[in-house]
Amino acid sequence: MNDFSESTPIPDDSSNEPFRVEYAARVKRLPPYLFGRINNTLYQKRRAGADVIDLGMGNPSDPPERIVMEKMSEATFDVRNHGYSKSNGLLNLRRELTSKYFRKYGVRLDPETEAIVCLGSKEGFSHMCLALMGPGDTAMIPAPYFPVHMYGVILAAGNVVALEVADSEKFLQNIAYTCQHFYPRPKLLIINYPHNPSTVTVEQDFFTDVVKLAKRYGFMVISDFAYADVAFDKYQPPSFLASPGAIDVGVEFTTMSKGYNMAGWRVGFCAGNAEMIRGLATIKGYYDYGMFQAIQIAAIVALRDTEAAVENQSEIYQGRRDVLVECLERIGWEASVPKAGMFVWAKVPEKWRQRMNTIDFAMMLLEEGDVAVSPGSGFGPAGEGFLRMALVENENRLRQAVRHIGRCLERMEPKYSGETRPATTS
Ligand SMILES: Cc1ncc(COP(=O)(O)O)c(C=O)c1O
Repeated sequence: MNDFSESTPIPDDSSNEPFRVEYAARVKRLPPYLFGRINNTLYQKRRAGADVIDLGMGNPSDPPERIVMEKMSEATFDVRNHGYSKSNGLLNLRRELTSKYFRKYGVRLDPETEAIVCLGSKEGFSHMCLALMGPGDTAMIPAPYFPVHMYGVILAAGNVVALEVADSEKFLQNIAYTCQHFYPRPKLLIINYPHNPSTVTVEQDFFTDVVKLAKRYGFMVISDFAYADVAFDKYQPPSFLASPGAIDVGVEFTTMSKGYNMAGWRVGFCAGNAEMIRGLATIKGYYDYGMFQAIQIAAIVALRDTEAAVENQSEIYQGRRDVLVECLERIGWEASVPKAGMFVWAKVPEKWRQRMNTIDFAMMLLEEGDVAVSPGSGFGPAGEGFLRMALVENENRLRQAVRHIGRCLERMEPKYSGETRPATTS
């Protein structure tokens, strides 16, 4: 131990220099938050009393099942549940998760070593990036991207190569190309199906090819399966872990935020490769003390006893999807019909794309039409020209939203007709 106390007087602070807070380089690497302008305006409008229809965020507006809330309430009154919990989650909750994987996908997992509970899948994902990525490491991610797929890697000091997801065959070919031509080779592939924001879905064969590529080129895989429980027209989104050999190369994140309407509860999971999970557990062990036990107990009930409600919730989203797509088509918009997820990914009409970028377009819909949507470029340049609309309002409100959009564009037409934005701003 060093002791400098005798030789070091404490200096007077006589300088009048203002104190400066200097952020770390990792924070300075982050770009300005693209949704900031929209969120700010939405907040101001609501404060001023406007009835804004908010299709911006995939934040479920329906409640969880009553038995889940009752269990939560009951568990809250049990004094044993108020201490720190285990950072990797209650074993019984991990068992419920692995039972669900077996029931739904035929995947056998060891709840002791191949499953961990996270404080929402976003927390787990970003800490997994910290466990796997460092300076000089590269991850391949989907383009357009859900922001944490990009910035989880960036915050872990890694680099990113974004590959177009629209065509799944091309996506696989681009993975192979990137692995053959990048040095050092990418260390990690992030995949997300049903994809947010583009709503692209895949079949099991796709994941089987991903596993082959991972083994051939030696990269790990993180599958973000956030929309596992929200699917339409009898489509069943496949699990990456159900492909042969997937557990050798990767993990999969799932969540109770979407299908179970428990977004605020922050319950997510990571399952799959035991070594990768051990890495995540190590980081989490330093950063958190686990999830409030009452939440974990209620989550067990939700996983065990509310499967029918989860299916019913998908039907609700399906009804909203049909209404939104039909209304958009009626005003002349193009929107593909998603097979899963909580969003419609709609193309901004050509003439408006010529006039302004999607951020300005989304701002106009909010300011003039009282409808909030997410501009595609908030998900990177590959999203430019699209809007993401979340199915979080009821069917009537969705109809009303499209009516507002249609009227807003009619009103704005004279102001913008004849205007074309410079090609460089796209
Ligand atoms: C693709 C994707 N991954 C992860 C998440 C985050 O989910 P959670 O609430 O479990 O953190 C979301 C939420 O919108 C998402 O769309």
